[in-house]
Amino acid sequence: MNTSSQAAAVPGVQRARKSRWPARLDWVQSASGLVLALFMWGHMFFVSTILLGKDAMWTVTKAFEGYFIFGRSLPWLVSVVVAGVLLLLVVHALLAVRKFPINYAQVRAFRDHANDMKHEDTTLWWWQVVTGFALFFLASMHLFVMLSRPDQIGPFESADRVWSDHYWVLYLVLLFAVELHGGIGLYRLAVKWNWFGGANPDATRKKLKTLKWALTVFFLVLGLATLAAYIKIGIEHAPRAGEIYTPAWVQPAGAPAVK
Ligand code: HEM
Repeated sequence: MNTSSQAAAVPGVQRARKSRWPARLDWVQSASGLVLALFMWGHMFFVSTILLGKDAMWTVTKAFEGYFIFGRSLPWLVSVVVAGVLLLLVVHALLAVRKFPINYAQVRAFRDHANDMKHEDTTLWWWQVVTGFALFFLASMHLFVMLSRPDQIGPFESADRVWSDHYWVLYLVLLFAVELHGGIGLYRLAVKWNWFGGANPDATRKKLKTLKWALTVFFLVLGLATLAAYIKIGIEHAPRAGEIYTPAWVQPAGAPAVK
């Protein structure tokens, strides 16, 4: 018989109730991670519209600025969305640091354990910690620019930032960090919350891992192709860096068309 039931058996002795807060915080961390990962999927599709042409990316950008509803661009609408994403990122990161190894001994113990186990999920968790740490810094730089200069998003404006302002360096590292982190995160959520159940958990886990890697490779290829497109436009546009892009079909009559 264990001590807590013994304590419960003694009249007047209160049994310490297990706090539900760690589980609640885990839930919020999972939920915020899920929303951020799904946001990133949408984000990558919107940013990659440059692959469909400058007019396509311009149209998506203007849609987010309310241009087709209010008849004029309201870039501050984008800042409101960025502020929401930033808040979610801060909450997610704050909850995630609870799980970080906090000193050398813990890092050492974890690494030794991972090396002994050679267990892929343990190694994946390590890469989620490393990429999560990198995102603290890399994502904040990008989000501050999007928050403070939402008026500087567009085929030329983004390409000039990527090439003439050298943001391709940040985006290249950020792309790998966020796609690895998000992919591992969704996989761990599916396993942890048993989303796909199934009679054979090992087979389900194997399928999930294949799906995870397929999605990660898909978004990395899409992201690299998108970055290459912004770099190509940025190189061509470098002599006129700072010029705002407007599609020919938006030009007032008689104005020179932009090629
Ligand atoms: C609402 C918030 C966000 C907005 C409005 C936004 C907007 C953009 C835009 C317009 C670009 C194109 C390049 C440029 O203009 O500089 C871009 C690129 C990128 N963003 Fe975001 N972003 C947001 C949040 C995030 C977050 C949270 C992450 C990752 C944690 C992220 C990762 C990236 C990456 C990796 C690229 C480069 C794309 C590529 O490699 O093809 N973004 N973003």
